[in-house]
Amino acid sequence: MPLKLLRFWLPLLLFACHLLAETPQCFRFTWVGAYENHSNIVTETCDSRVGDFNDIPCVEPLVVTPNDTVPDVKALWQNTTEDRDQYLCQMSAAHSCVKYSYIFKGGILNITYMCAMVNASNGCYRQTHENGMQVEACVCTSRLGMIPCNGCSRQRLHDRVMGLALCLLGAYQLLNKFRRIV
Ligand SMILES: *[C@@H]1O[C@H](CO)[C@@H](O)[C@H](O)[C@H]1NC(C)=O
Ligand SMILES: *[C@@H]1O[C@H](CO)[C@@H](O)[C@H](O)[C@H]1NC(C)=O
Ligand SMILES: *[C@@H]1O[C@H](CO)[C@@H](O)[C@H](O)[C@H]1NC(C)=O
Ligand SMILES: *[C@@H]1O[C@H](CO)[C@@H](O)[C@H](O)[C@H]1NC(C)=O
Ligand SMILES: *[C@@H]1O[C@H](CO)[C@@H](O)[C@H](O)[C@H]1NC(C)=O
Repeated sequence: MPLKLLRFWLPLLLFACHLLAETPQCFRFTWVGAYENHSNIVTETCDSRVGDFNDIPCVEPLVVTPNDTVPDVKALWQNTTEDRDQYLCQMSAAHSCVKYSYIFKGGILNITYMCAMVNASNGCYRQTHENGMQVEACVCTSRLGMIPCNGCSRQRLHDRVMGLALCLLGAYQLLNKFRRIV
């Protein structure tokens, strides 16, 4: 009897384990914003745009959009004909999804979506620089099988802003190194 039972339950168990092994996902790419000649984007890299030892987040692939409008992440998520995995990363344990935007006079200049280890609770953090440039980092936790949370438009805005950017970037660079090693 137990053998028969096992034969029935084992595939089910393995299937369940497979499901458990899956992790929620985050969007991962940089939308470069207004871009002169779209056919030139293929020649661009994060190195060429922001350099190596820089505090500015940038994650490949670099993406341009029709009319340079902000990315329609919902369409991206729903587009199964496209290889959307290249725009996603696994939100592994202790990591969050992050959306990092540069905003000037209310207009969004560019956005970097990524997975990162962040020492901050979920929500949006905004920093305004002297020249009027605003940097907004939104942190969230995706749910399995759902559209990654760092695509959504509006999240709670925290008053607390200090420190986050640095802390986030440290983690981001570490992660990047880690990814290169693996
Ligand atoms: C865009 O760049 C491509 C390749 O560099 C070039 O062939 C094309 O003429 C450019 N288009 C415009 C409108 O500048
Ligand atoms: C985003 O815009 C800011 C402000 O113009 C710029 O400094 C930064 O390099 C841009 N990021 C990317 C990845 O192009
Ligand atoms: C781009 O702009 C043109 C002219 O304003 C408009 O007709 C077209 O629908 C826009 N395309 C997208 C994808 O928004
Ligand atoms: C899906 O992606 C492909 C390749 O980028 C594109 O040609 C197509 O128009 C997209 N479909 C939708 C519904 O966005
Ligand atoms: C994380 O943040 C908390 C409170 O903001 C702080 O007390 C703690 O030292 C931080 N940890 C690290 C590793 O930065």
